[in-house]
Amino acid sequence: MTVLASTIKFLQQPTAIAWVEQAIANLDTILLDHSHCERKAAGVALNLIFRYPSNTKLVRTLTTIAQEELEHFERVNQWLDRRNIALAPLSPPPYGAGLKAQIRRHEPDRLLDSLLVSSLIEARSHERLGLLARHCPEPELAQFYRGLMASEARHYGIYWTLATTYFDRATVTQRLGELATVESELLSTVHPEPRIHS
Ligand SMILES: [Fe+2]
Ligand SMILES: [Fe+2]
Repeated sequence: MTVLASTIKFLQQPTAIAWVEQAIANLDTILLDHSHCERKAAGVALNLIFRYPSNTKLVRTLTTIAQEELEHFERVNQWLDRRNIALAPLSPPPYGAGLKAQIRRHEPDRLLDSLLVSSLIEARSHERLGLLARHCPEPELAQFYRGLMASEARHYGIYWTLATTYFDRATVTQRLGELATVESELLSTVHPEPRIHS
């Protein structure tokens, strides 16, 4: 295994080959963690709808995303069923908390950072599901990842577009650069536990 996906727009560093090797060697754990990721992605979209109930464009767009993430959740859970993997808890890698810590507390910064952190997580998910699709030795599972990867690509664009709806382009670009640096740093060493964002 030598070739990794080209860098996704927004991501400062591509995923290391060490992550691909770790994930392919632990596909059951990756599937279980993936289930947790889809549930959390739906929750994040819903939380933003609750926090900004009067931002019409945000509410309407994230309603669709929450529905899609819940559908992904169900589809991953069907894979867990097929492989007899119980829906067990799994300790999260430091990635999510590390990014969440970057979200400033006061508005409107909080909205901007929340949208951009989600955009980066979706971009990384898109990249990594693509790597799983390419390297997974089980054709049917690889096909499943290929299908999901397209949705996550749309999602990162949608969060970015929402950011530019409420903030000017220069502000969004500058903050995205700062957060993308942190995002890549958080993944600079592969977490010992196999996870989607290890
Ligand atoms: Fe998803
Ligand atoms: Fe997504």
